Amino acid sequence: MSRAAVLCGLGGALPGTVVSNDELAAQLDTTDRWIRTRTGIGSRHVVEPGEATSDLAVDAGRRALESARRAAGAPAAADAAVDVVVVATSTPDRLCPATAPSVAHRLGLGHVPAFDVAAVCTGFVYALATAASMIVAGLAERALVIGADTFSTILDPADRTTRAIFGDGAGAVVLRAGEHDEPGALLGFDLGSDGGGADLITMRAGGSRQRSSGEEPAEGDQYFAMEGRQVFTAAVLKMSESSQRLLDRLGWDRHRLDRVVAHQANVRILHAVAEQLGLEEKQIVVNLDRVGNTVAASIPLAMADAVAAGSLAPGHRVLLTGFGGGLTWGSTALVWPDLEPVTDDPA
Ligand code: COA
Repeated sequence: MSRAAVLCGLGGALPGTVVSNDELAAQLDTTDRWIRTRTGIGSRHVVEPGEATSDLAVDAGRRALESARRAAGAPAAADAAVDVVVVATSTPDRLCPATAPSVAHRLGLGHVPAFDVAAVCTGFVYALATAASMIVAGLAERALVIGADTFSTILDPADRTTRAIFGDGAGAVVLRAGEHDEPGALLGFDLGSDGGGADLITMRAGGSRQRSSGEEPAEGDQYFAMEGRQVFTAAVLKMSESSQRLLDRLGWDRHRLDRVVAHQANVRILHAVAEQLGLEEKQIVVNLDRVGNTVAASIPLAMADAVAAGSLAPGHRVLLTGFGGGLTWGSTALVWPDLEPVTDDPA
């Protein structure tokens, strides 16, 4: 039997403050109707001043570890040790150092290796691939993989488009070493990038390019910016192509696929991906109506919501696919394991 990384815990965390479309419409030139019909989003959660990405990452990580304990039938006080912590984020607490070491420290995980992966909305899939590779190579037995972002902290307050789309959050999974034929085993990956599209999803100021020029950033360059229409088209194409490549590699006919958990960017993107793959819309998990696009947190939060809603169940053949800045994309697949996601702290 070949060694594999097996999903065995799932957790999520959202900040307490909810912003409805009507609240956005009170500040910006937009309407609830426009946002719902063009994106499918009804509300999003945002951090309060002083709240940072690591705060959400720590909550999601703790809950994923609790979920793994429950799945293993271990008592609450059981050891939650992992060998590595990978945090996918494009809104780290600071540009330097990475956010993961402080998350590992705050979770009491000891001196384990901990590092960030930056692939914007594909970050979670890239981080999964990284951690799974470490497990398969024998570098780790158990990994905590967290996708966490607080895009509300980098948006232009006057930009009706990005403020309608993005929300803050964190989602996390625990991977353990296991066998390839177990439920939860990550069965393969398809990953890719196209740096020719780097300007389509970007924050121009703040990095070494602008700093080394010695010039003040141009007005607005300190905010996140995207080319919505081009991103829309690329997201549909790249998630569909990547998913199809992975299905072909695994020998999975699309008729044998039960669910797709795709990056939650826009419900029209999700429906277009379903159409490209020849799937029914109900096979595509949707939770962006209440959280928006939570960037690296999007896929694990959607998985947790889908299990809670009963639309993702043990035995389902599931494909995860993401697309984001870079441009980057990536997919993986698994047979859904029997686990209970934890999204609130136990009373
Ligand atoms: N409220 C009202 N009008 C808005 C608006 C808002 N919140 N946001 C944009 N508009 C306007 C635009 O300014 C544009 O006006 P104009 O025609 O006068 O220039 C009009 O709506 C149509 O814009 P368009 O870009 O054609 O709309 P769209 O149907 O493509 O939807 C997005 C825009 C951004 C919602 C859509 O392109 C999208 O979701 N793109 C992908 C974004 C994404 O997923 N990013 C992250 C990727 S990981």
